[in-house]
Amino acid sequence: MRNEIGIEYRTFIERANRAAVSWSHSIRCLVRQSKKSFQNDRPRGRESGIIMSEIAKLQALEILDSRGNPTLSVTVTLANGVTATAKVPSGASTGKREAVELRDGDKSRYGGKGVLRAKGYVEGEIQSTVQGFDANDQKGLDKRLCDLDGTPNKGRLGANAILGVSLAVAHAAAKDHGLPLYATIVDKPANLLPTPGLNVLNGGKHADSNVDFQEFMISPVGLPSFSEALRASAETFHALQAVLHKRGYSAGVGDEGGFAPQLKSNEEPVELILEAIQKAGYKPGKDIVIMLDPAASEFFDEGNYIFAKSDKSKKAPAEMVALWKSWLKRYPEIWSIEDGVAEDDHAGWTQITKELGNQIQLVGDDNFVTNPALFCQGIKDGIANAILIKLNQIGTVTETLECIQMARDHGYGAVISHRSGETDDTSIADLAVAAGMGQIKTGSACRGERIAKYNRLLEIERELGSKARYAGAGIYDQWKKPVKA
Ligand code: PGA
Ligand code: ZN
Repeated sequence: MRNEIGIEYRTFIERANRAAVSWSHSIRCLVRQSKKSFQNDRPRGRESGIIMSEIAKLQALEILDSRGNPTLSVTVTLANGVTATAKVPSGASTGKREAVELRDGDKSRYGGKGVLRAKGYVEGEIQSTVQGFDANDQKGLDKRLCDLDGTPNKGRLGANAILGVSLAVAHAAAKDHGLPLYATIVDKPANLLPTPGLNVLNGGKHADSNVDFQEFMISPVGLPSFSEALRASAETFHALQAVLHKRGYSAGVGDEGGFAPQLKSNEEPVELILEAIQKAGYKPGKDIVIMLDPAASEFFDEGNYIFAKSDKSKKAPAEMVALWKSWLKRYPEIWSIEDGVAEDDHAGWTQITKELGNQIQLVGDDNFVTNPALFCQGIKDGIANAILIKLNQIGTVTETLECIQMARDHGYGAVISHRSGETDDTSIADLAVAAGMGQIKTGSACRGERIAKYNRLLEIERELGSKARYAGAGIYDQWKKPVKA
């Protein structure tokens, strides 16, 4: 559906742009200013009584993720011709209570991992339900999607189908306003660039090595800006490569772009990373700190933690917490531990939070699965002090934003996160800036699908110009760590 203002705006911009090409620089500035004021005056969806941005068409495509497994790409077209695409990620060390990722189960295609059923739902049932819906009403749309699915875990239509639509529509609404996603997805002005956690050494389910713990991340908390922080991280990543070479280790990478060598113990990655930070010319514990995601649910079996990949030892929950306590004494450069105990180990979570929750950040991933109800219960139980945020764990933009708001309201941290199976979609970079919670983890300084997110953050930093702020170490103010002399 076209409307007068849309046509008038486009005609104006076309004419003005043509003029700007042949006229002087000052005319170009005038065009930019006029464009801005048009954007401010433009009616937004139903507020004006005219629906400029109703959903006209949905298309889905079965594409491949970074591991070569099928995933969904969803493209939405609005009635005014605006189109936008979102690509859905996929995890490997998934929490039990995550929303359902719908797979075909047809063993003759991709070993059963095809997503043609989800594609069919997007182009069939979902399309006919959301056609004519205003793309600016994200909340209303997401509710409609959840209602249509009708299950508590999006098990009928699939969280992959639902998220593809939800996120593509968020992009379309932003595009329709001529604004970047980070500026439209929340109502507040966004200018905080997140402190990244770069997973430079991969183990657990993400690597074919003998390291039980999944992620060893560096976090450049002491650098003055996002771009400088990214530079320091990439330099440290390359220094780590040299450290590994020197010791005769392989420098092949795992699923998230971190190195994945066969090492002697679960502690050795920390030692190697500390050496690399220094070798790159930075101070561990000040310029760059360490974040861990052992993903403990993956090696929790019948009440015990089994180190099957390394020394085959077994630890009771209290011993696991004691292990982290001893690591923090030995390595005060560790400022954050995610899933240090398993999702089903409630006693372990209570104990780790009680004993370490006032020293470091404790991030809940598998236990909260970006689910507002589960997170709310966790807050009531006093579990963890931060939440990992993954859009596809819950399946809609609205519920994801709800978890972020809940974290803010209750003094929890929030780390916006990629999945181990990714695409070139960069929505989480915008989400991290929009969230304003100052943290992102999106892999190592290697592999295109990880770098795409960091590069998008560099673009946002440039776009924000002098307004851009870097979160740095500020996010840890409540758990100030001593710096090793
Ligand atoms: P996943 O792992 O994407 O494979 O689930 C990421 C994480 O555990 O944080
Ligand atoms: Zn995790």
